[in-house]
Amino acid sequence: MSSGHTGHTGHTGHTGHTGHASRRPRVIMLAALIAAVALLHYGVPTTSHGLHQLHIVLRKGYFLPPVLAAVWFGFSGALWTTAAISVLFIGHAVLDWPGNYMEQANQMGELAGFWVVGLLAGHWFDRQRSLLEGLATAHEETVDGLVSALDLREHNTGMHSQRVREYTLLLADRLGVDQEMRRHIAYGALLHDVGKIAVPDHILLKPGRLTDEEWVEIRKHPDVGYRIVQRVPFLRQAADIVHSHHERFDGRGYPRGLSGGDIPLGARLFAVADAYDALTSDRPYHAAMTYEQAATEIRAGDGTHFDPAVVAAFLVVPRADVEAIASRWKDVVVASRAAAKP
Ligand SMILES: [Fe+2]
Repeated sequence: MSSGHTGHTGHTGHTGHTGHASRRPRVIMLAALIAAVALLHYGVPTTSHGLHQLHIVLRKGYFLPPVLAAVWFGFSGALWTTAAISVLFIGHAVLDWPGNYMEQANQMGELAGFWVVGLLAGHWFDRQRSLLEGLATAHEETVDGLVSALDLREHNTGMHSQRVREYTLLLADRLGVDQEMRRHIAYGALLHDVGKIAVPDHILLKPGRLTDEEWVEIRKHPDVGYRIVQRVPFLRQAADIVHSHHERFDGRGYPRGLSGGDIPLGARLFAVADAYDALTSDRPYHAAMTYEQAATEIRAGDGTHFDPAVVAAFLVVPRADVEAIASRWKDVVVASRAAAKP
C-alpha cells in the first residue's frame, strides 16, 4: 500500500452524526414525555377503588422514557432519564404515603424495575451502535485499500481518489446534501475508476498517444465499474456515480450521453472535483497548475462540461479548504515508471 496512507477513517461521515442540532428536539420530547406521564400519574387521585386502579396502571408509563432515552442516547441518556424519574417517584412515595412503609417498599420495587429496564436497554443500544460503527469502518477501510491499489497502478501514487473524494464532499456540503446521500457520494467518488481494473496495462500505462481502438477500451471503464460496484448492496447508490462519472452537463460525455439533471448529483459534483485534481496534479502531459489557473479552467467549462450550480459552489469554497485537502493527501511517488492516460 502507498506510504503516507495512515488508514484514516471516518471521512465519509458514516457514524450517524447525532450532533447538538439533532439532539435538542429529542431532549425536549423526552422531557415532555416525562412531564406527561407524571401529570397523568399524579392527576388521577387514589380516592376511589376504580381511580386507584387507574393510578397504578398509569405509573407503568414511567417505563417509556428510560427506553426511549436508551434508543436515542444510549446508556448515559437512560441513566439521566431514570434518575429524573426516580426523583419524581420517590417524592410521590414519601409525600403521598407518609409512614406507610409497606406501600413505600412497593413503590421502591417499581422504581427498581425502571432502573433495570432503562440501564439494560441503554447498554444494548450502545453495544449495537458500536457494532454497526465497526462494520461501517471495516467497509470503508476495505474500499480504501482497494482504491489505493488501483491508484498506485495508474498514477504511481495512492492518493488521487482520496483527494477527489474529499473535494467532492466539500462541494456536497456547500449544496447541503444530507448525511445519507453524502455517504453514497463519498463511496462513488472514491470508486469512480474501479472499472479500469479491466483495462490492460499496455493501454492504461501507455506513455504515448492512444489509438482509436485503445480509447474504445478505456471508455468501457464506467460500465465495467458500474457492474462491479452495483453487486455490493451497501454500494448500490454509489454505483450510479461510478457509471456516470464521465458524463458531461451538455450531454457530450460517455457512456450514456446523459445531460443536465439526468446525471446523478454525485457525478456532477465529482466532475468538478476530478477536473480540479487532474489540473493541480503533475501528470505526464502537463505540470501542476495553481489554484487560480485551475479555477479559470473550471469556469471555462461552466454549463458545458460542468453543472453551473456546482461550479458556483466550487468558486465560493474557500481556497484554503481546498488546498488543505491537497496537502493532507499529498502524492508520494512509490516507484518511478512512465505513467498513464487520463
Ligand atoms: Fe474515469
